[in-house]
Amino acid sequence: MTTTVRTRVAIVGAGPAGLLLSHLLAKAGIESVVIDQRTREEIETTIRAGILEQGTVAILDSIGPASRARTVGHRHDGIELRFDGEGHRIDFAALVDRGVWLYPQHEVLKDLIAARLADGQDLRFGVTAERVEDADTARPRIVAVDAEGAPLVIDAEFVVGADGSRSVVRGAVTGSSTGGYFREYPFAWFGVLCEAPPSAPELIYSNSANGFALISQRSATVQRMYFQCDPDVDPNSFTEAQLWEELQARVPGVDLQEGPIFQRDVLRFRSFVAFELRKGRAALVGDAAHTVPPTGAKGMNLAVADVVVLERALRALLLDGDERLIDAYAETALRRIWKAQHFSWWMTSMLHVAPGASDFDRLRQLGELSTVVESEAGRTYLAEAYTGWPLA
Ligand code: PHB
Repeated sequence: MTTTVRTRVAIVGAGPAGLLLSHLLAKAGIESVVIDQRTREEIETTIRAGILEQGTVAILDSIGPASRARTVGHRHDGIELRFDGEGHRIDFAALVDRGVWLYPQHEVLKDLIAARLADGQDLRFGVTAERVEDADTARPRIVAVDAEGAPLVIDAEFVVGADGSRSVVRGAVTGSSTGGYFREYPFAWFGVLCEAPPSAPELIYSNSANGFALISQRSATVQRMYFQCDPDVDPNSFTEAQLWEELQARVPGVDLQEGPIFQRDVLRFRSFVAFELRKGRAALVGDAAHTVPPTGAKGMNLAVADVVVLERALRALLLDGDERLIDAYAETALRRIWKAQHFSWWMTSMLHVAPGASDFDRLRQLGELSTVVESEAGRTYLAEAYTGWPLA
């Protein structure tokens, strides 16, 4: 027996993009159903990145006191760029009068899920979308399988793929599940979570002859750190002592506060932008539409920016029958997406050491880093991009 549910907007994916979209739509009086194949527990405990742009925090404020980004998160007014054994502060507050918040993505997700459920949102976990049908008509639908293995159909007026880099909805929008502009990098990040006090007041992005490292934080007692590694490395092939040695070798001049490492993972990264972001009554947001390497801290922020543009377009379409904004959705969203792609690629290529890099490549990179930190224009560009261009 197939269950059929009717709604105005069917959203695949209960990540930041899908949940935020359902929240903004509900505020505008537009009902939605959100499905995700993962369990709530899985969504709330998967470790992801942690930097929120100022504009992202302002949007999250709209979920009210349930958003703890400002109270539990920490405002950062700068970062340190480190190379050649020396640190250089990029002072966001002085350069662009903006800041960022360190507040991990899974905490954002806990806040959003709690707020959506309290608001009566139809939010279903353990439901797997199989395909989108009739995206070209005014009644598109999602064909899915529910948590008990029974067929479920969601009939809607619009379908949104907020279902991450392995998006199922993407196929209905681009004509293939992979179609997009694509770039792979010959390295990955080895990430660790450890019990230790912070090693520095702000994040350190470090370029060294031994490769890149990022010294990030989680709290007064838990820290997050990454170092550049081979994408095929086995996370369990390092002892804890070796991990500390690797990390320390990439931040010469910093005395890392060591402690027990309780989680380790390897993050492969790539740059991707789908060829199409919308077809008829289906659109993509967040990682379904694009992925960026994590060096620019743009992933979740870009998802939020897509949602802001799409939500406005859906309001015009579904409340006023006005198609102009939805027709412009891809073009509008892509302007920011390609700027963020460039920034993420630039930070990545400026800070990592590519396998087989020559002496020329290394010295040119140090020249580039000096150009940025010694020039107010260079620092200002970095600060503008990192803290986030204003949302439309
Ligand atoms: C993190 O804290 O996980 C983090 C921070 C900044 C990045 C990437 C990851 O650019």
